[in-house]
Amino acid sequence: MNVVVVGGGVIGLSVAWRLSSEHEVTLVDPRPAGGASWVAGGMLAPVTEAWPGEEDLLELGSASLASWPGFAADLGLDLDTRGTIVAAADGADAGQLDTLAEFLAGRGREVERLSGRELRRVEPSLGPNVRSGLIVPGDLAVDNRELLRLLSSRAHEAGVEFIGEAAASVTSGVVELASSTLRCDLAVIAAGAWSGALHPALAGAVRPVKGEILRLRARQNALPPPTHTVRAMVESRAVYLVPRAGDELVVGATQYEAGFDEEVTAGGVRDLLNLAERVVPGVVEYTLTECAAGLRAGSRDNLPLIGSLGPGVVVAAGHHRNGLLLAPITAEAVRAMAAGREEPLVKVADPARLTGGTA
Ligand code: GLY
Repeated sequence: MNVVVVGGGVIGLSVAWRLSSEHEVTLVDPRPAGGASWVAGGMLAPVTEAWPGEEDLLELGSASLASWPGFAADLGLDLDTRGTIVAAADGADAGQLDTLAEFLAGRGREVERLSGRELRRVEPSLGPNVRSGLIVPGDLAVDNRELLRLLSSRAHEAGVEFIGEAAASVTSGVVELASSTLRCDLAVIAAGAWSGALHPALAGAVRPVKGEILRLRARQNALPPPTHTVRAMVESRAVYLVPRAGDELVVGATQYEAGFDEEVTAGGVRDLLNLAERVVPGVVEYTLTECAAGLRAGSRDNLPLIGSLGPGVVVAAGHHRNGLLLAPITAEAVRAMAAGREEPLVKVADPARLTGGTA
């Protein structure tokens, strides 16, 4: 089969790579391996990102997390298996943690509740503001940029043809570019926040949700970065700190409805630094190496859209905060669809629920 994948972020690259063993694949993107996937924190965290009311997302994310070790091994990528800590600063934040812990226990997830003092013994970089927390050993992390580099190489090695242009529209087996038309047996829309403009059924179903991150590096004589991924609630605001090799730390992320604005604001940087300092005070001694903004692909129910939009068109978009986490299960689901099979695990992501059944 001849397949055109529109979008070269983590979802498009994963789909193209996984399909390339059975099909002729072309990937269309003016800036592959960029966008939100490049800016991402790299958490593979279905449990720590969970919240009551999002049970389907927890189950979908957990199923994809189970595929991650095999996916990473096939790529030759290391996973960060040191686990995740959730920390709470004030009393209201601790209350939010109670809600999360209760919800997770009710769903049979392994969580250990600790006081601030106990948590600091496990993660000495945490400051005195941290009152209590959870340890979630199963949630992992990955270096998103190394992931993108490897996915691009594997896709190239497997014969995927890259076209460095933007797509204007996708219809049944037809992908329109600015100056040419690609015809295919199957078109896969995996253009993240830009997917909504590519097919009429997706208009209003996928929207941009802006996120800013910081990258910092511990200087000589500064306290070392955390050894776990740390997610924290500070006065009801969320922040996460993800350690990387070379004493690097990714701090994220703001979340705004700001259309297609991809500029970093001074207020975003200030907020992230303030929140990070309240959790890991040592960060103020670090070098600030990068500030970046990306656009998550939001959907109305925070679940992705993975499924058919009609003959010859599949969508794999709307992954919101979980693009990296859901990449393996999304790629497997699209591979199954290309072979005329259904992947029951992604039934909850059927696009028809948000496209009014026009799919
Ligand atoms: N996955 C974390 C974020 O979207 O900020």
